[in-house]
Amino acid sequence: MKESNSQFEQRKRDHIRIALDPRSQTEGQNGLDSIELIHEALPDLNFKEVDISTSFVFKGEAVSLSSPIFISSMTAGHERGREINEALARLSDRHQIMMGVGSQRRELEDSNAAEEWARVRKQAPKARLLGNIGIAQLIKSPIDKIRRLVDSTQAMALFVHLNPLQEALQPEGTTEFKNGLEAIENLVKMVGVPVIVKEVGCGFSVDTLKRLESTGVHAVDVSGKGGTHWGRVEGYRSKEDELLYKVAQTFSNWGVSTVQSVLNAKEARVSYEIWASGGVRNGLEVGKLCALGASKVGVAKPFLEAALLGDEALEELFKKLELELKITMFCTGSKNLKDLQTKRVMK
Ligand code: FNR
Repeated sequence: MKESNSQFEQRKRDHIRIALDPRSQTEGQNGLDSIELIHEALPDLNFKEVDISTSFVFKGEAVSLSSPIFISSMTAGHERGREINEALARLSDRHQIMMGVGSQRRELEDSNAAEEWARVRKQAPKARLLGNIGIAQLIKSPIDKIRRLVDSTQAMALFVHLNPLQEALQPEGTTEFKNGLEAIENLVKMVGVPVIVKEVGCGFSVDTLKRLESTGVHAVDVSGKGGTHWGRVEGYRSKEDELLYKVAQTFSNWGVSTVQSVLNAKEARVSYEIWASGGVRNGLEVGKLCALGASKVGVAKPFLEAALLGDEALEELFKKLELELKITMFCTGSKNLKDLQTKRVMK
């Protein structure tokens, strides 16, 4: 059944409201509490020297990024989302950090929806945006239409989200995932920008990470369990006496934790970059994930909460994450992110 515009708007509003409900968080399950970095009492550097900058290669050139922290994909294509995206994009522009936009699915059917990005670009010309589309839409869309999503956002890369649990629990879910691997492989060949595959909070197994190796993806953002859980979010959209609510309870802790997913990528010996997200709530956790091997670390829900409060709250959150990461690096004797990746981690 095709979803009407008003049903789509309602679904997006519900997602934001329910994602902010503490019941939708798999708090304490990201695995990061069991990871410890080693404190070095005599780092051979001055705090001022700590450098958290990194880069992203786009069209053969390294685009500078002030930090490995990025804003994870959240919303797009609806009225309430516009202000949120504009505020997030201004932050991305001010600090030169990457920002994933939410699923651009609506643009596939309605090219007017792309106007949102023209407004965003007016306010945030230097924002480092990354496009976003779901695997089920990718499988059935001609490549020209997908390319338009990259053009409309002037994106440096395209995220493809894999979300089988969410789709299975969503009343309007699209569960046709067959031939997904081939679709990703074709996209990598044809789209003209780096492709990054991500989950939405249920992580990755060793096996799936190995299967992705042959596709030529630039990175996998594991987006593991430990933060916003899309099985829970979809479940809470239904009423307590409804089937999907009850089934979602069964799957409320389903998934591979963020830490385990990163370790799985190490075990799979993948050659693409490992990015991490899923329940990352402070800069120490960012540091732990970098030490485990992630080259970029995404945060979703905290940025959403701050965006709803405005630019000042976003600025405060980003500064906090940044300072916590810098302190983590100072106290482990890491001058830069490369150093941090060589530090021993206690599990
Ligand atoms: C998301 N997420 C998401 N991911 C994606 O690839 N496309 C999307 O459209 C959305 N939409 C979306 C909406 C909202 C309101 C939130 C909070 C999140 C998933 C997100 O990128 C991330 O993978 C998970 O939310 C886990 O990160 P946090 O929230 O635990 O930091």
